Amino acid sequence: MEGEWRKSILVTGGAGYIGSHTTLQLLLDGYKVVVIDNLDNSSEEAVRRVAKLAGEYGHNLSFHQVDLRDKEATEKVFSLEKFDAVIHFAGLKAVGESVAKPLLYYNNNIVGTLNLLEIMTAHNCKKLVFSSSATVYGQPNEVPCTEDFPLCAMNPYGRTKLFIEEICRDAHQADPEWKIMLLRYFNPVGAHSSGNIGEDPRGIPNNLMPFVQQVAVGRRPELVVFGTDYKTKDGTGVRDYIHVMDLSDGHIAALRKLFETKDIGCEVYNLGTGQGTSVLEMVAAFEKASGKKIPLKLADRRPGDPETVYASTEKAEQELNWKAQYGIEEMCRDQWNWARKNPWGYGSPETD
Ligand code: NAD
Ligand code: UD1
Repeated sequence: MEGEWRKSILVTGGAGYIGSHTTLQLLLDGYKVVVIDNLDNSSEEAVRRVAKLAGEYGHNLSFHQVDLRDKEATEKVFSLEKFDAVIHFAGLKAVGESVAKPLLYYNNNIVGTLNLLEIMTAHNCKKLVFSSSATVYGQPNEVPCTEDFPLCAMNPYGRTKLFIEEICRDAHQADPEWKIMLLRYFNPVGAHSSGNIGEDPRGIPNNLMPFVQQVAVGRRPELVVFGTDYKTKDGTGVRDYIHVMDLSDGHIAALRKLFETKDIGCEVYNLGTGQGTSVLEMVAAFEKASGKKIPLKLADRRPGDPETVYASTEKAEQELNWKAQYGIEEMCRDQWNWARKNPWGYGSPETD
């Protein structure tokens, strides 16, 4: 990608799951990448592995262990380098924890983002790609979810996403020089095909596939299936799972759009596949890919869980010229490859 050569991108939360995969794709596309992360939910080992996977492009990556709430430290990173754009992944994302510790979530996600936007303004860097979530659709009345659906947050985590979307809209309204992409991810799963980077949540996983993966490698005895009485094909919840590599490529497409479109303003895009898959279908696909039996315990619904959520992909396809390529077979194959090679993620049994 000649044109993108040497453009410099700041990636906040770049040691995390989606951030590490996106950083790799950015490097391979010829971008220079500076990652900042406080390593609250990640490991520096992920950044080292990304640099290695990037081969000759690895030297275009640098890392600063910085918390976005530390304005002075964040400012310092901006004084070292002029960024062409920022991709902002950094944030806390555990829904249950956000209900128990709402102030922590508002402080980390919102104060962190405000600091970032203020520092970007001061350094005249006004191109931003932000990690929003399908959670802003709440319990949608119909599917597929289009970007113009009414928004509704079900918990403090979701509210941080909703508020940050609004903050971005207001920032652009007040200063049209801002160019902002709000990307609403559906359910990212899978890992890079090398199996060297992947998702490694701290503590008990909240999300389906990290949990399934930990059952497969013997770290947990069984998967608890939350709800078997939904009005879906097999009674379990339906979601739009998207391969993390497709999601990463979606960021590159969004970035390109930011650089190429003069008056892009503040735009929102769903990043999903448009396909709905049930919990039992996902488990079956993982069992097939791994050859492992996943023992199940059928349980009540998880409070706040919607029945069926999947994306309308039309807007991203038409305007970003991006479409997810992988299906659930590839997602499960790559998730298993990562799990098999790294049963303890970036850590060890002692760090579990
Ligand atoms: P992750 O936890 O793996 O990555 C987030 C990273 O941000 C972590 O490395 C963490 O250490 C860092 N971080 C958190 N607070 C920080 C702070 N104040 N300063 C600096 N670094 C900080 O999560 P992920 O799955 O890669 O998600 C990335 C983003 O995408 C998040 O904003 C998340 O809310 C959003 N998102 C994720 C999903 C999903 O299912 N994974 C779905 C929708 C949206
Ligand atoms: C969850 C979050 C959502 C967030 C999204 C992506 C909640 C209530 N919602 O959504 O805010 O944006 O992750 O990070 O946490 N399941 C089980 N057993 C498990 C885990 C999940 O049966 O141990 C089921 C769920 O009921 C659901 C499906 O698997 O039907 C997917 O769950 P999950 O991976 O947590 O994603 P979401 O519920 O879509």
